[in-house]
Amino acid sequence: MIREFRPADAPLLFALMRENFPEEEALYGTQPEAYRRIVRRIYRWDARVVLGLARAVGRPIFRFLTVEVDGRMVATTLLSFAERAGYVSMVMVDRPYRGRGYARALLERARGMVERAHRRYIVLDVLRGNTPAIALYESLGYRDLREVGLFSRPLASMVPAGPPAPVSLPRGVRPYDSRDRAPLADVATRTIPPPVAEVLPMPKRALGGSGTLDRILSSESENWVLEREGAPVAWVSVTSSDAMEAAGMAAPIIDESADAAAVDAMLAAAVEWCARRGAVRIVCQVPLHSARSIESLQRAGFVLAHTLRTMYRPVAHA
Ligand SMILES: CC(C)(COP(=O)(O)OP(=O)(O)OC[C@H]1O[C@@H](n2cnc3c(N)ncnc32)[C@H](O)[C@@H]1OP(=O)(O)O)[C@@H](O)C(=O)NCCC(=O)NCCS
Repeated sequence: MIREFRPADAPLLFALMRENFPEEEALYGTQPEAYRRIVRRIYRWDARVVLGLARAVGRPIFRFLTVEVDGRMVATTLLSFAERAGYVSMVMVDRPYRGRGYARALLERARGMVERAHRRYIVLDVLRGNTPAIALYESLGYRDLREVGLFSRPLASMVPAGPPAPVSLPRGVRPYDSRDRAPLADVATRTIPPPVAEVLPMPKRALGGSGTLDRILSSESENWVLEREGAPVAWVSVTSSDAMEAAGMAAPIIDESADAAAVDAMLAAAVEWCARRGAVRIVCQVPLHSARSIESLQRAGFVLAHTLRTMYRPVAHA
């Protein structure tokens, strides 16, 4: 039976995540107790009303599908929605229940939902060496779209423990302002290859993070831009949450005209901000076509931990 995830499934979900995604768990280091609080917050009645309304007007925020066998959740798939694509993640089947078609059934159910939400594509990321999952996706018509590097930078004992002191911003760096969005989107769009932009265009939302999301996830974010002659030429965003031992950095946006030393100073400040929040490492996912971002991250001490293949297919059957 396919049904929606329920808060009571949370303990089993965390156990399954640890077992089925060892590489990601090692990088992000999820903290089950904090996660449980987040699940309770997302599934509180008022948040449920928001999700229900969003669904009713055809703009679903996410769907969390599971397979239940004899009263036990044995498989999951999380579906969220981008502008043109449904994004699938957390595809897993508990080991004793594999090979019975549950993952295939969940992906097909998700595809139907994406079609009803009027998105053209369905997209997912898979670790490059995950042969069983890739075979499953290829058998369902998924093809390669791009590769994404999962970069990591250790932070251990960079700063003394204690309440975070403010980070002083280097020259030319200031907090992000919503007026920066359009020029930064132009910079980002120039680096996206056209076939990728067709499926995953630069999101329309602001680059300043979301206070609501930070509240739901108990996270804290900072978004900065580097200016050159009054115009934003680079952007960085960092998030720290007590649900994970790693801090997150969004793929930086960097224009060709940005001065390398100034970009390095901005990234160094972002690294320091994460260290001051007690994160043990920073994780950053960057498409491998973003050469300038990757060079800057490597200079800031990031190393490639894993490579993901982003795979996609049109939602409608050919
Ligand atoms: C990937 C995973 C979800 C597949 O679960 P499953 O129960 O075997 O999936 P299904 O029975 O629905 O899918 C069957 C199809 O997947 C492919 N497949 C599954 N396991 C495979 C394997 N070991 N080798 C090759 N192909 C395999 C086949 O195409 C198969 O079709 P077939 O049975 O008609 O030959 C499961 O192995 C898993 O949970 N792995 C750990 C978590 C993970 O890596 N998830 C993917 C994250 S991107």
